[in-house]
Amino acid sequence: MNKFTKGLGACMTAMIVASGALADPADDTLVINDEIEIVTRTAAPAHLSDALDEVMSGWLFRGAETRDMERDDFDNAGMIFVEKAEDAWNTADGSAGKSCADCHGESTEMAGVRPVYPKYVEAAGEVRTLEMQINDCRENRMGAEKWKYTGGDMVNMTALISSVSRGMPVNITTDGPAQSTWEQGKEIYYTRFGQLELSCANCHEDNYGNMIRADHLSQGQINGFPTYRLKNAKLNSAHARFKGCVRDTRAETFNPGSPEFVALEMYVGSRGNGLSVEGPSVRN
Ligand code: HEC
Ligand code: HEC
Repeated sequence: MNKFTKGLGACMTAMIVASGALADPADDTLVINDEIEIVTRTAAPAHLSDALDEVMSGWLFRGAETRDMERDDFDNAGMIFVEKAEDAWNTADGSAGKSCADCHGESTEMAGVRPVYPKYVEAAGEVRTLEMQINDCRENRMGAEKWKYTGGDMVNMTALISSVSRGMPVNITTDGPAQSTWEQGKEIYYTRFGQLELSCANCHEDNYGNMIRADHLSQGQINGFPTYRLKNAKLNSAHARFKGCVRDTRAETFNPGSPEFVALEMYVGSRGNGLSVEGPSVRN
């Protein structure tokens, strides 16, 4: 047992050790379309400095071919879904006969929104994700049906809203009225779940850089979400990813959009403060 596998269940230790040694994150830099510089590693935010020196995008833990797909929008399959969302942005829906564009203007007007979500929304008196804001507009301002939290229309729209903020630093507020939600997310992050008794931290803080089966473990950052996965050939939201990771510990999982996952998203997002918004990213 080495320092990376301490505290893990025997089964998990075997899984990590058996599958190989430490594999360093790539020594590589990401510039999208020869234009948008992406910060993929930077000093950890102050609230994390006891646990980590540096925070790193999951991009650095993927293979060269996968990394290359993110360098140009023509090679990033996630951008096809951004185009679909651009159509939706400009199309009227619901009883008010309005489109997003009627109120918000061009989609580029959303630049600067992704980096600060989830955030405490004063008017609503609660912490909200981007998905919650979008559904609030659909339901209460457009008179349209809510979109399914992790459904295609929703994840495409969050990809469009992320894409116009690419390169901007993630900057999630962790204090003030958001603090109790943030603390709740932190508690979930360090709680051991399931038969394997594993927390998010056991894999993504104690073991990033190690191989687990055939996978190179990253820090589990969400600056690249939504993410186009080669595995399922579609965009995946952060909550869908959380669900998969919790299920892998053989635990019952929370639902996408649940208060627990909203809090977890706020906390995990803040672990990436300082990294660039990178979504839609490409992962395997
Ligand atoms: C009838 C006008 C109206 C329509 C239509 C509308 N919105 Fe909104 N939206 C607002 C208002 C007003 C706010 C709150 C004030 C603000 O932050 O701009 C808001 C807030 C938001 C926010 C949060 C912005 C921030 O800075 O925090 C997002 C994201 C958003 N809307 C997305 C959408 C999307 C996507 C659509 C289409 C599916 C849409 N809205 C349709 C009026 C509208
Ligand atoms: C058993 C180990 C394990 C546990 C526990 C685990 N994950 Fe993961 N997670 C993985 C693996 C393997 C991947 C895919 C490789 C990678 O990106 O790290 C992954 C990927 C991710 C990603 C995608 C990162 C990216 O850049 O695409 C996120 C986000 C994530 N995990 C969050 C979480 C959260 C939050 C928890 C706790 C609820 C958690 N994980 C628990 C193993 C784990």
